[in-house]
Amino acid sequence: MDYAKYIKSVMDFPTKGINFRDITSLLEEGPVYRAAINDLAAFAESKNAEIVVGPEARGFVIGGPVAYSLGIGFVPVRKPGKLPREVATVSYKKEYGIDTLCIHKDSIKPGQRVLVTDDLLATGGTIEATIQLVEQLGGVVVGVAFLIELTGLGGSKLLKDYDVLSLINY
Ligand code: PRP
Ligand code: HPA
Repeated sequence: MDYAKYIKSVMDFPTKGINFRDITSLLEEGPVYRAAINDLAAFAESKNAEIVVGPEARGFVIGGPVAYSLGIGFVPVRKPGKLPREVATVSYKKEYGIDTLCIHKDSIKPGQRVLVTDDLLATGGTIEATIQLVEQLGGVVVGVAFLIELTGLGGSKLLKDYDVLSLINY
């Protein structure tokens, strides 16, 4: 399916010069949303993924349905102070300042096969931190899946050792 047709591009959002690729217009189209989730789920299944991990907030809109459709678990990666049990944390550099992400320490079993997913790959900082959290817990990242990959921002370089699927490339 030509998923790109369903993405609205918004100039100068959130700041001047950025051409923002908006996934919400795709999510609004039920059959298109379902087809995209089915494609990502087929990729996860082909890798024999046993659990799905996704970062907040938009990673939940992708990872949750992928996990549901395969009947496997979903593990949220969240900002500090949101997860109630003991967490592992990773800090990473953003354009301005440092960000931290957390995962429940007991959510992934050592050796478990993990699909990591998010809506969009830009610089790769978010997905790299998410992968580091999974690997800290002993998980094996068998695939990394996105709706959208913004090529040329360096994200794919960080993922060169992983199997990556992106449904749309800009
Ligand atoms: C966006 C997007 C990815 C990340 C991609 O999330 O959903 O998670 O940025 O950028 P990167 O590859 O440069 O890390 P955002 O931080 O805006 O948070 P949100 O999902 O809560 O809107
Ligand atoms: N769209 C959505 N999220 C983003 C983008 C974009 O173009 N760039 C960085 N995060």
